[in-house]
Amino acid sequence: MTVTIVGSQLGDEGKGGIVDLYGDDADVVARYQGGDNAGHTVVHEGEEYKLSLVPSGAIRGKVGVLGNGCVVNPRTLFDEIDTLQDRGLDPDVRVAERAHVILPYHRILDGIEEDIKSEDDDEIGTTGRGIGPTYEDKAGRRGVRVGDLLDPDVLRERLEYVVPQKRAVVEDVYGLDIEELADPDAFDVDALFEEFREFGRRFEAEEMTVNAGAFLAAARDEGQNVMLEGAQGTIIDIDHGNYPYVTSSNPTAGGAATGTGLSPGVVGSGEVIGIVKAYLTRVGSGPLPTELGGVAGDTPGYDEQGEGENEELATYIREEGGEYGTVTGRPRRVGWLDVPMLRHSTRVSGFTGLALNHLDVLAGLDEVKVGHTYTLDGEELAAMPATTEQWSRCEANFRTFEGWPEVDWAGVAAEGYEALPENAKGYVEYIEDELDTPVYAIGVGPGRGETIVREHPF
Ligand code: IMP
Repeated sequence: MTVTIVGSQLGDEGKGGIVDLYGDDADVVARYQGGDNAGHTVVHEGEEYKLSLVPSGAIRGKVGVLGNGCVVNPRTLFDEIDTLQDRGLDPDVRVAERAHVILPYHRILDGIEEDIKSEDDDEIGTTGRGIGPTYEDKAGRRGVRVGDLLDPDVLRERLEYVVPQKRAVVEDVYGLDIEELADPDAFDVDALFEEFREFGRRFEAEEMTVNAGAFLAAARDEGQNVMLEGAQGTIIDIDHGNYPYVTSSNPTAGGAATGTGLSPGVVGSGEVIGIVKAYLTRVGSGPLPTELGGVAGDTPGYDEQGEGENEELATYIREEGGEYGTVTGRPRRVGWLDVPMLRHSTRVSGFTGLALNHLDVLAGLDEVKVGHTYTLDGEELAAMPATTEQWSRCEANFRTFEGWPEVDWAGVAAEGYEALPENAKGYVEYIEDELDTPVYAIGVGPGRGETIVREHPF
């Protein structure tokens, strides 16, 4: 069967921990979108690994697949693989031939466009990894795919078509001198060909490339368990998120089908688990109706909402939860749980179960709030509206829960759900009722053992 893991909020819900937990029963773990904008920290046999492309399952002896919906920067991928090999691991990573390649010019264009937007305070707050420009080229039918790196003639032809266009964009649209950029080779066909053809040889020599859909279907036919792992979260989905403050792919469950080549029926016949953080964080710009606060000058877009009047509480939660970007190190904006957001995510992806993370972070507060509904133009809304302009005008109607104490969380995890403090149980059950979806797992600490497991989806 398949188990699909989807972020229900703005990313950083702690998907990695759940992939890790349930991934134990999987034979193959496949990512279906995104690239090295995602970051996850894996602790394995006492060692900490920071990864952005290699699926965490791959360091635990599973086969890790980067599906066709991913965008792959081979520099990052091979850096990570080399680092893991230096540390004595031998990850089995396969990459879809249909996945698009992030080239050096994509990163540079990502930076230039953000700089220009920031002149009017319109920047998205991207991770600067070239994600948007690569998906743009995919949709524009001028991309370079992983399979193209294996064939020198095709690679050269693709580069000769696209690179002059990129040069023209930099010089004629943005008015910049390529020779004055930090890496002029990023716009040089021969330099790109040489470096990326070498990556192609390595992909080939290590037999890393696959026809992802066929590969995963064959695994299923053999009775293997397949986990489909989304990066980022629903509200930064390019279709169902708060456009334009989104990433350029589909983290929602539909992406699991298009991004792997398994059919929607296959994905839908398995479990779809929504990962929910017990509060909310955001690293980039955009509205956040339940916002408590950001870090002035350091958190893009933070001034747009609320001016951080609950700054102290935000700081407390940020520090307790370690809410700093894995890829960028940026302090995250912090808010209360937003239930209209979760109702939207639950409908879009059809969650069959939830994993609620970081419940321990809220321990010790006198009270815990949730945004239960919104008010927009005098009307009460149960779920997020479709446009970001409307969303930015939504005011959250809060519900207040009595807080729960700090307890021995490892002990609670070992004993099970009944050992959870009563008020925390009330919070969990409220979420289950509102989303009409059972909570399968509750994260109460960063360690592998600090999760209350109520269901095993495989
Ligand atoms: P991009 O994916 O780098 O283009 O960034 C687009 C938006 O998605 C920005 O608001 C980023 O902060 C956000 N984003 C991208 N990846 C992640 C992630 O892994 N966690 C949280 N936010 C992310």
